[in-house]
Amino acid sequence: MITLRMGRQVHDAVARGYNSGSGIIAEKNRLVAASLVARVPRRDRAVAVADLGVGDGAMLAQLAAAGLPMRATGLDVSRAMLARAAARVPLTTVHAGAEHAARHLPAAAFDLVLAHFILAYVDRAALLAQARTLLAVDGVFSLVTTTGEGGSGFMAWLDEHYRRTRHPLKRIIAAAADRALACSHVPATYADLEADIAAAGLQVQARQTLRVPVSLPDAEAAYRFGFEEGWAANILTVPGLPLGVGEAMARWGVRQGAYPLRFIQVVEMLEIGRALPSADPATDRAGARSAPRGG
Ligand SMILES: C[S@@+](CC[C@H](N)C(=O)[O-])C[C@H]1O[C@@H](n2cnc3c(N)ncnc32)[C@H](O)[C@@H]1O
Repeated sequence: MITLRMGRQVHDAVARGYNSGSGIIAEKNRLVAASLVARVPRRDRAVAVADLGVGDGAMLAQLAAAGLPMRATGLDVSRAMLARAAARVPLTTVHAGAEHAARHLPAAAFDLVLAHFILAYVDRAALLAQARTLLAVDGVFSLVTTTGEGGSGFMAWLDEHYRRTRHPLKRIIAAAADRALACSHVPATYADLEADIAAAGLQVQARQTLRVPVSLPDAEAAYRFGFEEGWAANILTVPGLPLGVGEAMARWGVRQGAYPLRFIQVVEMLEIGRALPSADPATDRAGARSAPRGG
């Protein structure tokens, strides 16, 4: 509970400076909208969209600008993010965790479910089960996440400047980073993610992958990337640590590394549907035994 409340505070703090207007998030929004507008089933009514972890609503705004007529619901644990999203697009807002989305939203009612960059915070199996529950039979689930692939430059940096030093404060920062990594549900590889998708009774229908070389020239850029764009925000959710102290330590901490810090950000952009029953009855029986996990 303490961690959940702290998580909300951290996301409210990130909301103050969250920048979806440039960089990886803007590029993702552009590519995903272009693809989804062609793929989402059209009805004789507005398309029902649920955005889990809606953030500042930029993805919904991009879909609207691309010509998708929609009735949108945005769900988020941060009231500050919900306020930013609602100021940007017409939106029903739900203040809740994505892992419990189906408690708050109707089942099988959404033509499009979005969950972009929330796997650092939301259990993967739970999210997939919620998405499957919410999706209309022919609906599309747009899942966007980074994976651990490409992160070796960052891991080596963490090792060299924090984990392997004897400096007590740097070791505290290493421990906070390790805790954040251990709590994250970002998949190590695409293969891991695909296996979980299949186990949830879903299947990947389209995949685009972005490989973005990131080069952070100095501590200021590292702080902006990690804590203002939010890529490392959950390092700040240390139980019992006041947010202001965590922010001050993060500011001090990034200055202890050497620069430039270089790694590759691998972003998977998936369009997922319900798995179709197989034509082979033997495979069907095996499939029925092995999953769907919930939803
Ligand atoms: C990195 S931002 C991504 C925002 C948006 N989806 C995008 O692609 O720009 C992560 C968002 O997830 C929200 N969030 C964090 N934990 C959550 C949870 N358990 N359930 C729902 N939203 C959550 C944060 O408040 C934040 O708005």
